[in-house]
Amino acid sequence: MLNRTKKAHWIALRAPILCVLVVCAAASAPFVGAQKVELSVDASKDGAKIDRNIFGQFAEHLGNGIYEGIWVGADSKIPNTRGIRNDVVAALRALKVPNVRWPGGCFADEYHWRKGIGAQRPVTLNPNWGGVTEPNTFGTHEFMDFIEQIRSEAYVSVNVGSGTPQEASEWLEYMTTAQPTALAKERATNSHAAPYRIGYLGIGNESWDCGGNMTPEYYLSQMKIYSRFVRNFNPEQQEKDQMLKIAVGPGGGETRWTEWTETIMKAYQHHTWSWGIDGLSMHNYTVVKWPPAFKSAGFGEAEYAQILKSTLEMEELINKHSAIMDKYDPQKKVALVVDEWGGWYAPLPGSNPGFLVQQNSMRDAILAALNLNIFARHADRVRMANIAQMINVLQAMILTDKEKMVVTPTYYVFKMYVPFQDSTFVPVTFDAGSYEQGGIGLPRVDAIAAKDKTGKVWFEVTNVDPNQPAEIEVSFGGITAKSATGETLTAPKVDSINTFDAPNTVMPKPISAKTQGGKLTLKVEPKSVTVVSVEQ
Ligand code: AHR
Repeated sequence: MLNRTKKAHWIALRAPILCVLVVCAAASAPFVGAQKVELSVDASKDGAKIDRNIFGQFAEHLGNGIYEGIWVGADSKIPNTRGIRNDVVAALRALKVPNVRWPGGCFADEYHWRKGIGAQRPVTLNPNWGGVTEPNTFGTHEFMDFIEQIRSEAYVSVNVGSGTPQEASEWLEYMTTAQPTALAKERATNSHAAPYRIGYLGIGNESWDCGGNMTPEYYLSQMKIYSRFVRNFNPEQQEKDQMLKIAVGPGGGETRWTEWTETIMKAYQHHTWSWGIDGLSMHNYTVVKWPPAFKSAGFGEAEYAQILKSTLEMEELINKHSAIMDKYDPQKKVALVVDEWGGWYAPLPGSNPGFLVQQNSMRDAILAALNLNIFARHADRVRMANIAQMINVLQAMILTDKEKMVVTPTYYVFKMYVPFQDSTFVPVTFDAGSYEQGGIGLPRVDAIAAKDKTGKVWFEVTNVDPNQPAEIEVSFGGITAKSATGETLTAPKVDSINTFDAPNTVMPKPISAKTQGGKLTLKVEPKSVTVVSVEQ
């Protein structure tokens, strides 16, 4: 949470990165001084599946993330369906959000589900986040309604810190059983006779910190009990589509966290029929140092480079924990689940510091693309991730102010990446080059490529350089490319933002290119994210 200490360390990107791309060109764009980059996409070689779940979201009872961001109540003047705002649902549907983690975060380890069902709901406290009251009007049924409205999957985190295995197992029975038990009847009385589908179960949250300050050994013993007794009874999730269980994992790269991963994975290696996990969580925010002090808007190129340097540490962290997981799980049965990531900056002046309110700029779009590309390159192990957080909190997709709503630059990146959901990774090679700022060196470009289910090839290219355009010459193996079309996202400045008054400052525009001599030349603007599909 707010007081943690983290050491920032430089992570060098592997030099020739597997990448992608091509492209083409808005004829009017100023490409004087464009740097040339040769990319080679080998569509004849299939890598791992890029799991749609890496585009997951996180919605915690924190600030205006749930209340106002999602829930306005059925009596609100803001157009809603059973209390859930229609504008937000429509915007999220376009992202094809694969899963939503709820109710926390730190909140989850103080959440008692019974207070959030039924007609009479007690007002409780939210001591983690601003010390405000929690009305409990958004509970299990409202969350599941939201999941159904946005057509997503539920990732429910149960309370290990201050709850009991019994409380958690009863919650799962309440949600999932089709048998006529007392809990199922209570669910039906509360307007949902059919069992709910719960795709993912989080067993605690940051149990090394806000989730109870446990040692890895103590957490392991608790986790085994929850894994054993917190069952999903939904008849449709017994053989196929089984609920996946995700254990608390590391929150950094230091020894205390490598020991944590070692402890859990070593035990997993010898696990018996009576317990098991399918995922190990990892949290990694881009913050540079705690407490978060970087501005989310009104910053310059120096802060742009510092934050992006820090965000690339994700690569090293994944490598470090994947190596430990490989030792005990060489078949990669357990996914590394990066279920909290994103930029964490200073709270906006005048906001409640416990509400984690920040702006979302073009820098965040680049940050999001770089992280999604890292996850894609580790698709064999990283099979789920959840950006923090969905609405009004940290690196959000959407900002609201009463009846107003605006989508952020990060939202557009997630929208542009939809074709990569459940696609197959395709290797890309390129010389990333280097962008230098104030003693910081960053790879100038980044890229990934993939094949969708129809065999169509897609690629993404990020131009990190905020000053120089790039001319990307793409050659292909395995396909004969004719042209490429897609979208590119850029903005006038690195700290350009969308506001309620100027909502279209950062938004994608079309881009296209044709091949000449078998190669595509794509001209991408400074500080831009571009996704195109290839016509053969
Ligand atoms: O996302 C905000 C908080 O960050 C979460 O509640 C917690 O898990 C992490 O410390």
